[in-house]
Amino acid sequence: MLKITYLSHSCFLFDDGNYKVLIDPFISGNPTCPEEFKSLVPDFIIVTHAHSDHLGDAIALSKQFGIKVVAVHELANYIVSKNGIAHNMHIGGSFDFPFGRVKFTIAHHGSSTDDNIYMGEPAGVLLTIDNKIIYHTGDTGIFYDMKLIGEMNSIDLYLCPIGGNFTMGIDDAIKSIEFVNPKLSAPMHYNTFPIINADPFVFKQKVESLGKLCKVFEYGETIEL
Ligand code: NI
Ligand code: MN
Repeated sequence: MLKITYLSHSCFLFDDGNYKVLIDPFISGNPTCPEEFKSLVPDFIIVTHAHSDHLGDAIALSKQFGIKVVAVHELANYIVSKNGIAHNMHIGGSFDFPFGRVKFTIAHHGSSTDDNIYMGEPAGVLLTIDNKIIYHTGDTGIFYDMKLIGEMNSIDLYLCPIGGNFTMGIDDAIKSIEFVNPKLSAPMHYNTFPIINADPFVFKQKVESLGKLCKVFEYGETIEL
């Protein structure tokens, strides 16, 4: 059974009983991340792009505990330049890790560091773990190729931003669910800061009106998939 925990913002932990895989580890600087996760040590980290609310603690954790960070080439090289450990990938490529498969998808967004250095393209993640397929979009606006992603993959869990301003808001996220056609959707990237405030229960109601399932995670909540 795959356990999925929401640390808040775009940070999710996947635990298949053997490996703990953390996506977008925005922990120490994140006002909404529960205190109990500040000492979490995962086995692998996947980062969608370089913005500090996604790269987060990845480099510090990698340096301290020797954790491999999976990222697109330019960002992976940056992580290594800061003395972290990385696995370089790029959009469209897949790789089989001990925990499962990672494939990076496109995302329409940016990917600069805090000092405004560009780190290649932002990405979304298709994670196959414990025979489940999770699509974490990263930060993105809606794009029609989501339909292709949904056609080529039977998505068990779709993690999509709803906070607007920097990413899709609720209405575009709802449209994207028509494209991706997942078994279950969950909102992310909202209410961390006032500029991305959104009501996840408005989203949930709209998902359910499509006849589809939606899970609104509480901060720190774990579900089994
Ligand atoms: Ni971003
Ligand atoms: Mn972001």
